[in-house]
Amino acid sequence: MKNSYLLALLFVSIISCKKSEQTSLVDTSKRGLIVEQAMVVSAREEASKIGTAILKKGGNAFDAMVATELALAVAYPYAGNIGGGGFMVYRKENGEIGALDYREKAPLAASKDMYLDEDENIIPGKSTLGAMAVGIPGTVAGVFAVHEKFGTLPIETILSPVIALAKRGVIVTKKQEDRLQKYQESFLKANQDSIVFNANWKTNDTIKYPELANTLTRIMTHGRDEFYKGETAKRLVKFMQANGGIMTEEDLAKYEAKWRTPVTFEYDDLKVISMAPPSSGGVCLAQIMKMIEPYDLANYGPNSIKSIQVITEAERRAYADRSFYLGDPDFVSIPGETLISDNYLIDRMSSFSFEKATLSSEVSHGSVQVVESNETTHYSIIDQFGNAISATTTLNGGYGSKLYCADLGFFLNNEMDDFSSKPGVPNMFGLIGAEANSIAPEKRMLSSMTPTIVEKDGKLLMSVGTPGGSTIITSVLQTILNVHEYNMTMQEAVNAPRFHHQWLPDVVLFEPNSFSKETILGLQNLGYSTNEDRAPVIGKVDGILVLKNGKLEGGADRRGDDTAIGF
Ligand code: GLY
Repeated sequence: MKNSYLLALLFVSIISCKKSEQTSLVDTSKRGLIVEQAMVVSAREEASKIGTAILKKGGNAFDAMVATELALAVAYPYAGNIGGGGFMVYRKENGEIGALDYREKAPLAASKDMYLDEDENIIPGKSTLGAMAVGIPGTVAGVFAVHEKFGTLPIETILSPVIALAKRGVIVTKKQEDRLQKYQESFLKANQDSIVFNANWKTNDTIKYPELANTLTRIMTHGRDEFYKGETAKRLVKFMQANGGIMTEEDLAKYEAKWRTPVTFEYDDLKVISMAPPSSGGVCLAQIMKMIEPYDLANYGPNSIKSIQVITEAERRAYADRSFYLGDPDFVSIPGETLISDNYLIDRMSSFSFEKATLSSEVSHGSVQVVESNETTHYSIIDQFGNAISATTTLNGGYGSKLYCADLGFFLNNEMDDFSSKPGVPNMFGLIGAEANSIAPEKRMLSSMTPTIVEKDGKLLMSVGTPGGSTIITSVLQTILNVHEYNMTMQEAVNAPRFHHQWLPDVVLFEPNSFSKETILGLQNLGYSTNEDRAPVIGKVDGILVLKNGKLEGGADRRGDDTAIGF
């Protein structure tokens, strides 16, 4: 019990709580990599290595961010990118915080109805596959904005190892082999010709990226404008138009990354710093955490029925608000302060009872269903000076629009699908959007990406984030709770089985074979619909925890090829 306001409200529930509900299958012997000074955790060993090497050269977390982001574009083309966009949250060693939005935006020629036919029906695939699905990429602008504001090493020092990696090539992992096989047909559908990935790539093969090395070399030589106004911009636009796209040179020339004020809120003795709109991550995370704060999760136990109930009910209410209210803050007015205010959230949670599930049909607001693709990537960095960054970057779907510019060596995103193509009608991922997230020229599409930094007692505690579409927010939430409420190590917190609820569909997703039968049955008896088949994994979290002795512990998710490296 943490909040006297709800003491009376919760009394009945607490006396009925059974201690034996601790059903987590966490292996408590697991600790992640521990280092003294600095660490990078990302989806690929190659990227973590390059980021760490930049730190070893005396670079700071921001230099390492540029290197890691671009190294992921080479080593992890599934989601790492220069043809997509992302968000970064930072906390400097002096406590200063901030956030960068390098999200894609809609082309100037985009329109609200661009994915609808004459009868106003959604044209299948138009917002997901090929050139019409592509938003104006923000990643190159993002890394240069970071470097310009905070970088200390020359851009040549940072980009050289990335370019060397592209030339040398990247070894195919088993997980990558499986992914490439799965997408063969889509690559052929989206492209006029077969692409380098249309081959029978096997584990331990090496894929080289000479065209991407050339593109990155031009960017290193001429700076960010090479991508937005230079030869690369011209070649990209020519390619896009030859493939039926609407991107113009003006679109690229007008793109700017934007510094945003992060969403911040308190939870017990933690201060959580997360991404502001156009990501829904920070607002949604704040809503959920503030709704669950009064409940004694530590006593209920990790993944116990009571913990799952409280978290699910808070998620239900937060996701009901999510897409109704949130969109690009430069285009729509968002009642951000109200949405995370104590009074509003106490009222939201007042209909919750431990006795039975609330029905989503009884929860307003909005008629908004959120199911997004899972293929984003996250990395966390803490440097030897005490600076921390948390960055999540994406092409949206796996390999984005599947449209690969062979001339320049990279995939283009399909981020336009994160807009609501037609308010009230689901896109191919089941997303029903609202007006706040409708398409307009130069507007940024709503995201769930939740790069997050946590302070405890005014000091840096954690950098954390994950891919996973709409499950991003709930995966970040559970990882923070695993450390703070359930006393897990960073690696345990990342490895722990996860569940997810997002209001609609009114079902709680569980990672398969990870939760006990008693837990699932117990929830079903309380009226919860459950599903253990739909999501093979929920999130793929990477995080770094500052331990009490000042050392750093990495959490690299077992669900991927993720790797922590540091010194
Ligand atoms: N494209 C996934 C996200 O932005 O949330």
